Amino acid sequence: MGKDQIRLLIVEDVPQVAQYIRGLLNSQSAISLLDVLTDGSKAVGQISQLRPDVLVVDALLQGRVKGLQLVDQLHSGGIGVPIIVLTVPQHPIEPDPERGIQAVLMMPFSGFDLMNKVSGVHRSFQASEEAAGSRVLTVFAPKGGVGKTTVAFNLAVAMAQAGRSTALIDGNLQFGDLRSLLKVPPDAPSILDLPTDRVQESDLADVMWRDPSGVDILLAPPRIEQAEMVTVRDVDKILSLLRRVYAVVVIDTPAALTDTTLSFLDACDTIIEIVTFDSTTIHNTLAMADTFRSIGYSPSKVRYLVNRADSSGGMDLNELAKAIGRVPEHFVVSDGRLVIEANNGGVPFVLTEPGAQVSLDIIRVASELLVGDRVPVGARR
Ligand SMILES: Nc1ncnc2c1ncn2[C@@H]1O[C@H](COP(=O)(O)OP(=O)(O)OP(=O)(O)O)[C@@H](O)[C@H]1O
Ligand SMILES: [Mg+2]
Repeated sequence: MGKDQIRLLIVEDVPQVAQYIRGLLNSQSAISLLDVLTDGSKAVGQISQLRPDVLVVDALLQGRVKGLQLVDQLHSGGIGVPIIVLTVPQHPIEPDPERGIQAVLMMPFSGFDLMNKVSGVHRSFQASEEAAGSRVLTVFAPKGGVGKTTVAFNLAVAMAQAGRSTALIDGNLQFGDLRSLLKVPPDAPSILDLPTDRVQESDLADVMWRDPSGVDILLAPPRIEQAEMVTVRDVDKILSLLRRVYAVVVIDTPAALTDTTLSFLDACDTIIEIVTFDSTTIHNTLAMADTFRSIGYSPSKVRYLVNRADSSGGMDLNELAKAIGRVPEHFVVSDGRLVIEANNGGVPFVLTEPGAQVSLDIIRVASELLVGDRVPVGARR
């Protein structure tokens, strides 16, 4: 069976209809028919075993479990298969995704109708699955110079190395830290080059900076005063588009809590908040936790990453944990020489020196963040 074929399963107890569908599918190879099930009462078990990509259920199915009863059973059982309901004009049914009916096929239908419906629901189901599977991570700290840009860049590269298609957004809209880190030419396209009314997937190709590290980067505007041209509405639209296209989106942010930074924090799934062994950082981290609580973020939305975790300046981890009120989730050691060298060269140290402790730490953080991700490594574009 071809890898790109859509695996179709049919629940149909009228032999003539089943035969008709078989005939329509004979002359093509985009869809392969797994089986035709005739008994609604046994179908749930068979369907979860066969795991089709698309299911067609005849609404007029007779027997103990009728057609729409089966659809309801499948839907309430949370079976992740898009369903097309087959019916006749005398029994009109409307598509109802809330009930698990993605599309309706009215008899009599042509081969073209069938193919169109099957590939259509398959495509949109895949797209929604991908959107649900994508992860948006905002690297943040209420303090400057703690390593946000360094961590965001190297983490994004580690995610890409782990087989995830990864985008990195330079959320430092005023100063564009990634622009300077990567020594991008001033005329390289930026977030301002995305259309503001209807952003589409095809617009992205011209605007993303394709870094040799394998990460696609959405750069900040080239000039400081242009930052204010990016609105919260733009941010929301851009993020929902990037979610559809990339498996992982990492956002670098400035230390200031501007309205665009807030919209990045709002829209992301996880905030990676950098802390260091430094009393002002800890003070600000506590103040920030308070703010996050009052905005209504759940504590699990934030994960603390201790950067330069081995240069504690006399404070130990217990003290840090006590000060911020919880044990940090992630740790990255200090490596003054390598980090500065790599940053000055505009390259990710996770690629240039993957064996260094600081690189191993970032790679581990990436895998810790990807735990629970349903998609196996390498399965994405
Ligand atoms: N783990 C580390 N080991 C050694 N040096 C580090 C480490 N992380 C960051 N640095 C250094 O700290 C400095 C600040 O890092 P970076 O620019 O990433 O911080 P930032 O939080 O993005 O700063 P800003 O608030 O200005 O955006 C850089 O010189 C960088 O080389
Ligand atoms: Mg920065």
